[in-house]
Amino acid sequence: MTADIPVLPDAAKNLAPVKDPVIGRVVSNNSCMKGKSASFVRHTEIDVSGTPLEGNCLVGQSFGVLAPGKDPKGKTHKVRLYSIACPSYGEDGEGKIISTTPKRFIDEFNAEEKSPGPTENGLFLGVCSNYLCKLEPGDKVKLTGPSGKRFLLPVDRDKHDYVFIATGTGIAPFRGMAMELLSHPDHGPTTSQIHLLMGAPYTSDLLYDDLFTGLASKHDNFHYHTAISRETRPDGSRGCYIHQLVDEQIAQFGPILENPRTVLYICGLAGMQIGLYQSMAHHKLNNGYFKIGEKLSGTDPIDWEPSQIRRGVKATGRCMVEVY
Ligand code: FAD
Ligand code: A2P
Repeated sequence: MTADIPVLPDAAKNLAPVKDPVIGRVVSNNSCMKGKSASFVRHTEIDVSGTPLEGNCLVGQSFGVLAPGKDPKGKTHKVRLYSIACPSYGEDGEGKIISTTPKRFIDEFNAEEKSPGPTENGLFLGVCSNYLCKLEPGDKVKLTGPSGKRFLLPVDRDKHDYVFIATGTGIAPFRGMAMELLSHPDHGPTTSQIHLLMGAPYTSDLLYDDLFTGLASKHDNFHYHTAISRETRPDGSRGCYIHQLVDEQIAQFGPILENPRTVLYICGLAGMQIGLYQSMAHHKLNNGYFKIGEKLSGTDPIDWEPSQIRRGVKATGRCMVEVY
């Protein structure tokens, strides 16, 4: 069977450039974590009505945020991108309120890193994520974008099935996509199969967990799987990464990935695609998702080095990758 390469919509890009950003106004900014954790992740809603971003941000795209202040060299801070976490029709149904999922970047200060921001008590605080996370309703924020033209839902949603694979804040676009596919105010829920796989360190770090468990109980075609890396599992085995979950449950995921209707979306930590590519190639499930370069073809994927994969494996028509 030939695979169905998804036809993607034409996405508007860069309507608000860095040189001419728009001003959004924060509507709400609340934790979207399941429980208390060492991390801090918010769901941030921003009103962009009356700006070129209104009605022009597609789910899967991102927008830019310009944090106020200057870097240690006295230059204005560079733009940082944040994935859109709402459907293309926004949080309000009209594309006036968009949202994202910022995670505070906090670490012990490391003098060997090229630090762009201040330190406090030996802690390095990322500039833009901490700025975003502490914004309050009514605050103004400078935005750019939208950005991205490939990590999008297909034009014909019902023609495809979906495997969404996230780590951490990589879940952001899948919140919007799942809502758009299942709760669209005009089209009603899709009958396509949707599998969402989410990787997090602890159960408390799961993001938008109530939404996804709610969608899974309401829609038989929505399946929510979690891979918790730092907790012992009920059967006594160690925690796992998402590609290990796919590997362990290949009897379930193999036929889904083999189905020519399926489109695979990968979003989150840079490097998360490596293990997935290895596992999929090992099970001969790469067809339509990625091309394996000459140097690697014919070799055992288990032996592939990450640097070889970065150079020699390229996503193709049915595989969308957004890692950062
Ligand atoms: P920065 O101030 O930029 O700090 C990070 C930099 O600090 C590093 O690059 C390094 O140079 C330096 N550094 C790192 N560790 C240390 C240390 N220990 N000591 C000193 N210096 C150090 N993020 C989200 O949270 N949610 C999203 O939805 C999201 N979507 C994205 C979508 C796309 C397409 C892309 C490209 C990125 C996305 N990001 C998202 C990441 C986001 O753009 C920022 O990179 C992230 O929020 C960190 O930015 P920051 O300004 O807080 O950190
Ligand atoms: P761990 O941190 O235990 O190594 P968060 O962004 O909230 O930290 O979550 C990211 C999740 O992705 C964590 O569970 C993290 O595990 C996991 N992870 C880290 N590296 C990879 C990788 N290369 N492939 C898949 N998952 C990864």
